[in-house]
Amino acid sequence: MQNSILTICYIIASVTFILGLKMLSHPATARRGNLIAAAGMLLAVLGTIFLYQDETGKALRNYGWIFGGILIGAVVGILAAKKVKMTAMPEMVSLFNGMGGACAMLISIVEFNHLMHALSADSFHIPAGELLIIVLGLIIGTISFTGSIIAWGKLNGRVKDFSFKGQHIFNILLLIIIVGLSAWLVYSSGEPAGFPFPVIFYSILLLSVVYGVFFVLPIGGADMPVVISLLNSFTGVAAACGGFLYDNKAMLTGGILVGAAGTLLTILMCKAMNRSLLNVLIGSFGGTAQRDGAAKTQGAYKEISINDAAVVMNYANKVFIVPGYGLAVAQAQHACHELEKILMDKGVDVKYAIHPVAGRMPGHMNVLLAEADVPYEQLLEMEQANEEFSTTDVVLILGANDVVNPAAKTDPSSPIYGMPILDVQLAKTVIVNKRSMKPGYAGIENELFFQPKTSMLFGDAKKVLQELIAEIKVL
Ligand code: TAP
Repeated sequence: MQNSILTICYIIASVTFILGLKMLSHPATARRGNLIAAAGMLLAVLGTIFLYQDETGKALRNYGWIFGGILIGAVVGILAAKKVKMTAMPEMVSLFNGMGGACAMLISIVEFNHLMHALSADSFHIPAGELLIIVLGLIIGTISFTGSIIAWGKLNGRVKDFSFKGQHIFNILLLIIIVGLSAWLVYSSGEPAGFPFPVIFYSILLLSVVYGVFFVLPIGGADMPVVISLLNSFTGVAAACGGFLYDNKAMLTGGILVGAAGTLLTILMCKAMNRSLLNVLIGSFGGTAQRDGAAKTQGAYKEISINDAAVVMNYANKVFIVPGYGLAVAQAQHACHELEKILMDKGVDVKYAIHPVAGRMPGHMNVLLAEADVPYEQLLEMEQANEEFSTTDVVLILGANDVVNPAAKTDPSSPIYGMPILDVQLAKTVIVNKRSMKPGYAGIENELFFQPKTSMLFGDAKKVLQELIAEIKVL
């Protein structure tokens, strides 16, 4: 009876995961979606703790350990989520994802030891299917764990780019050895007497740790969000292995959803950057060397004063704001919304052009502007915005660079060639706010800054916006 109620809890939880995921796809419903899925997860966890019974009718024990772990995890999670800055969000996602991978790894280690324990009893044969799932969870979970920790270190600057000649070959060989050892282990499950199961199992664990580190180390910094999304999908698959192992429907559905969503997101991000996944994994895009090498400026650019920029926008009919990573760094979203409201009050039509990979994580600009209560109807996706630039008087670029770089269309030798961009150069006037002529994340020159219709408005985005607001108010 209790197990039937538990199954119903799992089904309800699975439905909330699907609903939550669907609602996360729109900023207006995302917060509620997150809460609904979290409530489903809570139901599944509490249901497991209080309702689960094994075949002999025994309930779970060790409540002290379980609730002690939950308490520590909850406190650390809540504090970390409250403290994290918006710009450090990808780091946090990476760290949390790593913890998911670590859980899958630990589950595999615990369950392997259970099997070994049972093996020492007479007439026990290791079930090959169970061992296969344990080993899969071990490999995928461990790679996701160590890879995510390296990605976290890279994003916060603690881990530097590192690669050596032939590293990709080394990685492939390592993977072949891991797969080979796993196949041998599972194949030998039928004849356990004297077979060195633990030695092989822990060798697979060790090699997976090394593989996770060397898999992520050579990948360029700009590609970390794609890697994190890929590792996220790995964690989902590893969790699904746990679901198989324990015949737990909620874990299985949750794992499959995370795996599928992570894979789709990885594909979408690669598409938005016009790169293949292979190029992301071995291209070293956005690495330190590339950035340093391409930082030289060419040609002449012109500057515009705060006063002139205020006048140009004040008397425009239509203004487009293009937010980028610099807006997030400056935490200027509130000032940006205020500028937009003042211009609207003065009869100017103001909209935002959102590039799918502006910032450093998927939906970065949407989240940032939603935080400042910018109405969603004013946010235009890249394709819609590109149709409107030719009828726009002023484009104000706030801390964006790569996503408005025309080289993506005109220079086949550019590393971002082929990436869809915002065609801001079609507007009558372009004002670019950034602090210097330094390049963006791709580490390349932006010819837009040197075009006759472009003017540079140097300074921190928040400070510049506050000054613009003050000027426009008195016009
Ligand atoms: P970027 O090309 O990185 O340019 C950001 C610009 O902001 C920089 O040139 C910087 O110039 C300026 N900036 C920094 N701090 C500022 C501040 N306080 N005030 C004003 N400006 C400031 O950003 P983007 O155009 O948003 O493009 C995103 C890049 O990240 C793309 O290359 C994209 O492929 C990559 N990427 C994104 C994602 C996702 S999912 N979003 C994932 C992977 C990779 P100064 O230093 O001169 O101020």
